Amino acid sequence: MKQIKVFSVFGTRPEAIKMAPLVKELQKREEIDVRVLVTAQHREMLDSVLQLFDIQPDFDLNIMKHGQTITDITSRVLYGAKEIFEQEKPDLVLVHGDTTTTFAAALAAFYEKVPVGHVEAGLRTGNMYSPYPEEMNRKLTGSLATYHFSPTMMNRENLLKENIDNKNILITGNTVIDALLSVTNKPYQFDLEEINQIQDAQKLVLLTCHRRENWGEPMENIFSAVSELTKKHEDIVVVFPMHKNPLVRELAKKHMGENDRILLIEPLDYEPFANLMKKAYLILTDSGGIQEEAPGLGKPVLVLRTETERPEAVQAGTVKIAGVEKEGVLRLADELLSDKTAYDTMAQAVNPYGDGKASAKIADFIVRNAKRISKLEKM
Ligand code: UD1
Ligand code: UDP
Repeated sequence: MKQIKVFSVFGTRPEAIKMAPLVKELQKREEIDVRVLVTAQHREMLDSVLQLFDIQPDFDLNIMKHGQTITDITSRVLYGAKEIFEQEKPDLVLVHGDTTTTFAAALAAFYEKVPVGHVEAGLRTGNMYSPYPEEMNRKLTGSLATYHFSPTMMNRENLLKENIDNKNILITGNTVIDALLSVTNKPYQFDLEEINQIQDAQKLVLLTCHRRENWGEPMENIFSAVSELTKKHEDIVVVFPMHKNPLVRELAKKHMGENDRILLIEPLDYEPFANLMKKAYLILTDSGGIQEEAPGLGKPVLVLRTETERPEAVQAGTVKIAGVEKEGVLRLADELLSDKTAYDTMAQAVNPYGDGKASAKIADFIVRNAKRISKLEKM
């Protein structure tokens, strides 16, 4: 049997978490010869996910440099991926989401005339500078791709508005739910004693923050609001697994370093992190993936941004946009910590992002369309 050669390309932590279940699923299909190419736009935060899901990349561009700019990442991925696609001649390249790895790998595939499948397609805010550069990355990737695997109906609607052909869009749910279910299905003991020691009488507030458009003043506002929150609520303990970006860590230490009810810790591996979300009372975040995971766990989320490309969870009532001003963040967090009715209204387990079978749907689609895909133009 002639197999279809599918490359799965990713480079950052969230792409790895969301592509890992798909790689596993593709490996199960005898019709597919799956190869993994990592750019290593992230290094440690990528490697910990590869280790957890036991994935050995076939190719590793190892591009991460401290202080790297978007231009550095784009050009290094473009050159690196080009060489590999030219040698390996894949039938299909799969990319995920909206990072610079996503866009540059899709562009490299296009230049080699290899069709692209975009996983997590069709998320939009409509504002090209927020999130930056992700909104543009996902729009450009959408234009470069032939196949679009959209988590929700709303995502499909966004693509139809951009004249993407409906027959090339498949609604799948989000593969993040596949990953989440695989790591939260059993009782969990944390390696970090400080986390095990957080008692039922205390409310664990989980914080993550890393977005480029929040660097500087917005991040100062957010961290200062969190610090103030601990003064107002003596029963809370804040845990902040800090992103590896030195800019984020510096501001976190400045505003929250001296507070013994704020734990500034290293980024957690995915399994402990997912279980920390389960243990949390409230989540404050500017992350994309966490807005998809927390609703499934029944945890209220305040989004530390001015808008979201994930309106499904806002409509379902478990996610609210808190903005990036100190007063706004403080007011909403304070309300949820003081008013049990307001809290209970948000703390419902809803899951707009699928049933954990998104990867199987994508793999089935590729097998079903293998002949058509391998006839598409290639160099
Ligand atoms: C990137 C993505 C963003 C995504 C985020 C997920 C782009 C432009 N940005 O942002 O869309 O939401 O990842 O986390 O694609 N670093 C390490 N070790 C690591 C990872 C990062 O030291 O394992 C440090 C490095 O100093 C690096 C810096 O973090 O230069 C920033 O990493 P980069 O990938 O450029 O941007 P992120 O802010 O992580
Ligand atoms: N995450 C993790 N460890 C952490 C923080 C986050 O494993 O210390 C996971 C989280 O569960 C989610 C993903 O990383 O699946 C989100 O990554 P990030 O916030 O870096 O990127 P975004 O989703 O905003 O692109």
